[in-house]
Amino acid sequence: MRIGILGSGLMGGKLGTIFARAGHEVVFSYARSEEKLKRLAKQAKGKARPGTPHEAAQEADALLLAVHWSRIDDVLNQAGDLAGKVVVTCSLPMNADDTALVAAQTSSGAEELAKKIPAARVVAAFGTVPSEVLFDVYAARRKGRRPSLIYYGDERRAKNAAARLIRDVGFDPLDAGPLRIARYAEPFTLLVAQLAYEGKGGPRLAYRFERFGKRG
Ligand SMILES: NC(=O)c1ccc[n+]([C@@H]2O[C@H](COP(=O)([O-])OP(=O)(O)OC[C@H]3O[C@@H](n4cnc5c(N)ncnc54)[C@H](OP(=O)(O)O)[C@@H]3O)[C@@H](O)[C@H]2O)c1
Repeated sequence: MRIGILGSGLMGGKLGTIFARAGHEVVFSYARSEEKLKRLAKQAKGKARPGTPHEAAQEADALLLAVHWSRIDDVLNQAGDLAGKVVVTCSLPMNADDTALVAAQTSSGAEELAKKIPAARVVAAFGTVPSEVLFDVYAARRKGRRPSLIYYGDERRAKNAAARLIRDVGFDPLDAGPLRIARYAEPFTLLVAQLAYEGKGGPRLAYRFERFGKRG
């Protein structure tokens, strides 16, 4: 797939690098320095290049939206028309000092994002794990049982693309339902962050859901 990265920070930089190493064509965009985008593209080693958000968006089969909530409008403006585009978001609706969700219970970041770009195909994935674990999960993808990764959205095509990318990174994709499930998943992410950054053992943390007993 051709993947545009909108926001090449901790999440976008690492996921874009993994996508490129997994064989996708990646455009890194939206960082404060052009040099950083060039460096990411060079270090990714696959088919990766730096670009503007507009360039990243227009050619892409899928976009990864990985910016702070306060930057969403800016990056979407720079990206331009996203009609029909698959937009995979890992962005959480956090306030300026990252202490609370600004959309919750009656809405969610994923739903608010979908309202901003109604012609795009929004799906949420990757936002429920810390960036610190991504390279380890990728490195372990052929060894033993994979960690789960939930994704949710209302668009089948977007969900299929997300599931493929999740598998490529080394997780076991778990379809959690429609986009409004973000109302449960986004607060869950704060629990994951608590365990990752305040718990013992450090932030290289992922999760796995298991079913026990007979089906049904
Ligand atoms: N980090 C995590 O572990 C994690 C986990 C789950 C979900 N999330 C969510 O994922 C999203 C991205 O998080 P992140 O940690 O990857 O954020 P980040 O490291 O701060 O990356 C954000 C990117 O946006 C760029 N940016 C910020 N302001 C800009 C501006 N004015 N002009 C151009 N570029 C600008 C940054 O540029 P620079 O590169 O120059 O700083 C960076 O590349 C957030 O919504 C967060 O809540 C993060």
